Amino acid sequence: MRAILVLIAASFAASVPDTNWWETALVYQIYPRSFKDTNDDGIGDLNGITSKLDYLKKTGVDAIWLSPIFLSPMYDFGYDISDYRQIAPEYGTMEDFQNLIKTAKEVGIRVVLDLVPNHTSNESDWFIRSVRREPHYENYYIWADGIPDPEHPGELLPPSNWISVFGNGAWEYNKERGQYYLHQFVIGQPDLNYREPKVQQEMNDVIRFWLDKGVSGFRVDAVIYLYEADSKNYNGSYPDEPLSGKKGFDSDDYDYLNHIYTRDLNETYDVIYNWRDVMDEYIEKDGENKLMMTEAYTSLANVMKYYGTGKRNGSVPFNFSLLENINNQSTAFDIKLVIDKWMTYMPVGKTANWVNGNHDQSRLASRLGDSRVDAMNMLALILPGIAVTYQGEEIGMTDGFVSLNDTKDPQALNPTDPIKYWKKSRDPERTPYHWDASKHAGFSQTTGKTWLPIADNYKTLNLAAQMSAEKSHYKFYKDVATARKCCALREGDLHVKALSESLLVVTRLLPGTPGIIGLINLSSQEQIADLSSIKLLPNKLLVVASGVDCELEIGAPYLKSNLPLSGHCAAVLKTADNCC
Ligand code: GLC
Ligand code: CA
Repeated sequence: MRAILVLIAASFAASVPDTNWWETALVYQIYPRSFKDTNDDGIGDLNGITSKLDYLKKTGVDAIWLSPIFLSPMYDFGYDISDYRQIAPEYGTMEDFQNLIKTAKEVGIRVVLDLVPNHTSNESDWFIRSVRREPHYENYYIWADGIPDPEHPGELLPPSNWISVFGNGAWEYNKERGQYYLHQFVIGQPDLNYREPKVQQEMNDVIRFWLDKGVSGFRVDAVIYLYEADSKNYNGSYPDEPLSGKKGFDSDDYDYLNHIYTRDLNETYDVIYNWRDVMDEYIEKDGENKLMMTEAYTSLANVMKYYGTGKRNGSVPFNFSLLENINNQSTAFDIKLVIDKWMTYMPVGKTANWVNGNHDQSRLASRLGDSRVDAMNMLALILPGIAVTYQGEEIGMTDGFVSLNDTKDPQALNPTDPIKYWKKSRDPERTPYHWDASKHAGFSQTTGKTWLPIADNYKTLNLAAQMSAEKSHYKFYKDVATARKCCALREGDLHVKALSESLLVVTRLLPGTPGIIGLINLSSQEQIADLSSIKLLPNKLLVVASGVDCELEIGAPYLKSNLPLSGHCAAVLKTADNCC
């Protein structure tokens, strides 16, 4: 009898602790280079992140995802890694990292790292050895012979017409090896060869290396590019990709071709499921399930495959649908459809997630206008599953102005085009964080320049100002984040209703606990929201959070049939006191 009880207790313990902590986590993306500089070199660092953990916890953050912090020549700002097991010196040391992990644990924040599996840097030891054809490393990358140029005897053409995501040919000739290598991104980012089992083994070991150091998971970069067509099926060569036929693209633009041989290959998904198994090795040891979020800009049907199959578990693929489909003209109907679409296609039992920005996308306030910042932040925070916030979106930072001279992003400089560079540049959303109104926005004490210029509105748009203002994007964000502790926001049923073109209502209801209601008025005119048609709601509702443009008073009761929403109001209400 006792043995049975111990067994039951053990299995209970294995399933009940915070094992699946991430299913309702608020994940905050930190771009380390631009977060906080503590050694005055104008570049953010790990100690800067550690110094802000307490503040992040108070804001309601459960986990931080750090964009790459590893050794890198920084051609693509850390997405070109030369050693997966070392910290970039400009960000700090391994000791600083251990200290970050330790402090994060004390504070109660989990740390998620960026895994960049598709490519290394061309300065990585693996690549250097592969160039030399050292036996173990010979096939670590996608190497191919050039094609003799019929028009210029003695000269070679690249193995195929493939184009890099950043524009121009995707093959680079290496004299020493006498072959071309593939780089789906910049020349300094050679693609690893996932048909080589040793590469898969290496990446599994990299995952274990960091899990052993106490991280709680990974955001996995650019997964759709892991595989390319197998040259074995094409007599050892690589087939040309067909033209896309899309208008407005030059022959060296990525969109000029239809990428049937270089992305979304079926082999990809098993690699993701294998990584899930590697991370699951740590469930028992660490008492937590590791988070894996995959970055896949692809069709919805493909995105959903990253969740796993009936038989195998996968990851949480980023939901970029708010980013991609909502603009400053979108109506309540449009927003409802975008939300419903993800929830409809997502496999049953999986965890949803909502993304409003990242280091590759123009900022929320710049894309949609300041008046929609609260509404979009609120949606990400009250919809089911994981909320992902990119640093600065909680205070409504805008894209900074970065002149061609100051531009660093390789996507903008490939090739340097004084007219078009800003269209491709991701630097504007990567300008340093605005902590306060002091020099360099409190980001750095450097006497020189910060690595990217500070956006010029920092004197008025900064965290310190928003903390002391009566109302601000930050205060609203924090109030909504706090409401995530309510059971209804963790487990409640979701209903999204467009009351009109400009009025959106989101309810999260769970029997036996107070319900949560999100309201958005997308228009600039005051409107009365009448929620009478939502029968499950009681008559009296209490305001929990009220956005910058909203006149509803926190704590005040309102009748559900008569909710006066000022222009651009975003607000959260609940059905009764005491959340859980
Ligand atoms: C991902 C990253 C991006 C990077 C690219 C290549 O899309 O988010 O910043 O340039 O992968 O690694
Ligand atoms: Ca690849």
